Formats: sequence, C-alpha cells, structure tokens
Amino acid sequence: MSKFTAILGAAILAISVSGTISTTAHADEAKLIKKGSKVFKKCKACHVVDEAKNKAGPHLLNIVGRKAGAAEGYSYSDAVKAKAAEGLVWDEANLAAFLEKPRKFLKGTKMAFGGLRKEKDRNAIIAYFKSLASAKEEAPKEEAK
Ligand code: HEC
Repeated sequence: MSKFTAILGAAILAISVSGTISTTAHADEAKLIKKGSKVFKKCKACHVVDEAKNKAGPHLLNIVGRKAGAAEGYSYSDAVKAKAAEGLVWDEANLAAFLEKPRKFLKGTKMAFGGLRKEKDRNAIIAYFKSLASAKEEAPKEEAK
C-alpha cells in the first residue's frame, strides 16, 4: 500500500466516523426538540410561541435571548417590570432557573405555574424554543435558492 493510499484511507475513515457522530447528535437533538414541543403543552393555556399574540401570558416568540418584559402590548406585573429595568435577559440559564421555580426566581410574578421540576423537561423546552427561532432564520435562505 502506498503512502498516499494510507493517508486517503485514514481520511475516509475520519470522515465517516465524524459523519456518524454528527448524525447521532442530530437525532438526539431532534428527539429533544420533539420532547420540548410536548412539554410546551403545559404552557399553551397561557402562551403562544409562534406569533406575537398575547394570551393570559405574553407571547414567547424568540424568547431565548429576549429581554424580560418585552412583549409589546402585554401588561406585566411589577415583578417582571423591576427585573426588566435591571436588564434581565432570558438567556438559557435564566430561562431554566425561572422555569424550575417561577415564583422563586421572580418573586411576585403573576405567572400561575408551579414549574418544570425535571431538568430534562427544561432542557427540552429550551431546545424547542431555539429550534423555532432558527427555523425562522433559515426559511428566507431556502426561498432564495
Ligand atoms: C396559567 C398561565 C401560565 C402558564 C401555564 C405558564 N405561564 Fe408563563 N407567564 C404567564 C404570565 C401571566 C406571565 C407574565 C408574568 C408577570 O407579568 O409577572 C408569564 C411570563 C412568562 C415568561 C416571561 C416572558 C417575558 O416576556 O418576560 C416566560 C419566559 C414564560 N412565562 C414561560 C412559560 C413557559 C415556558 C411555560 C410552560 C412550561 C409557562 N410560562 C406556563 C402565565 C403562564
């Protein structure tokens, strides 16, 4: 076997191995997102996630990375307004902490929800929210093709 064939063989092996890994990661991510969409059923009575429409709770469009208290036209509690004034942003860590124990994280909130006690549920719903946001960003690119 020439040196070239050996290198080529190693390269092909490396490509196929990394291909397998990323496919698995993809499948896991898809599963997590699907689970998240089911967890979201617990929020649906009060929240819409795919359009800027407020119900009992503010809409959650692009919620990951959004500033607290930023849904237009929604009348937030003083608890949220105070946090918003402090500059609270719903990054993944803050969302997870809030969703675990809403009334502990946001004392005085009017969100009447006990919380998502399972870490897996919190991770899943955040993955679901992120997938919705990135699907929106990718859509125009698809059309341009
Ligand atoms: C019974 C109704 C109800 C349920 C169920 C509920 N929420 Fe809420 N949510 C609210 C209300 C009301 C607010 C506004 C809080 C305030 O102003 O104090 C809120 C606020 C929020 C905010 C802050 C939004 C912002 O603009 O700052 C997030 C994030 C949120 N909810 C996520 C969720 C998620 C995720 C679930 C499900 C796991 C959920 N909520 C379940 C009523 C609900």
